[in-house]
Amino acid sequence: MLASMRRMSSSSSQVTAEHFAYVAARTAGEGDFLAGLKQRAAAAGLPAIWISPEQASLMRILLRLCGARRVVEVGTLGGYSAIAMARGLPADGRVDTIEIDADRAAFARTEVAASDVAGRVEVHVGAGADVLPGFADGSADAAFLDADKSGYPVYLAECRRIVRPGGLIMVDNAFAFGQLLDETPSDPEVSAVRAFNDLMAADEGTDGIIVPIGDGLWVAVNG
Ligand SMILES: C[S@@+](CC[C@H](N)C(=O)[O-])C[C@H]1O[C@@H](n2cnc3c(N)ncnc32)[C@H](O)[C@@H]1O
Repeated sequence: MLASMRRMSSSSSQVTAEHFAYVAARTAGEGDFLAGLKQRAAAAGLPAIWISPEQASLMRILLRLCGARRVVEVGTLGGYSAIAMARGLPADGRVDTIEIDADRAAFARTEVAASDVAGRVEVHVGAGADVLPGFADGSADAAFLDADKSGYPVYLAECRRIVRPGGLIMVDNAFAFGQLLDETPSDPEVSAVRAFNDLMAADEGTDGIIVPIGDGLWVAVNG
């Protein structure tokens, strides 16, 4: 057999922690501002549950590839992912991000105002299920879901309406905080993630795949 044929594979290589370190070392970093945001968020008592720099890079690249101008996010926390996504939009682009916790939303607003994308992110305070119905059909190019997992089916249905046909839908934590395949997971949201993954896999209205980056990221085309 030719050496070139032996290198071809119909299955994926096993990815280890070393592979992720290799990927991270060759991916654009988060920069000083987002690194500082994480320090300020920790000092303010916010939990360190923001996306990784590598995931932020992938999301920014995907937004650039689909020419996104408008993005809807559920789950702002301190604004890390909203700012990272806004960096993938043109100067007149906008991220509308929804956060149920008023203190976290206030923190995020302060960070956005001090960032290089001030004016490109609007933080909405409220529950995703209450705020999303206010967005018009086809008014966004992309969506990112990163909030309570039991709410994901409702957020997906809303985002399928809000995101234009052919737009991008990304959903975080497909690997359920690393506990997806555990027989006795300790996190109460694992069963909701499993059910959502099955829903996405069976959804004929989206064409998606779980990308094994961060805690598993659903990347799907709407329609
Ligand atoms: C994992 S964090 C988001 C992290 C953020 N996307 C980032 O990477 O920087 C999830 C956030 O969703 C918020 N959240 C939880 N339930 C929500 C709901 N029903 N509607 C809107 N936000 C919610 C939480 O308060 C929390 O700040």
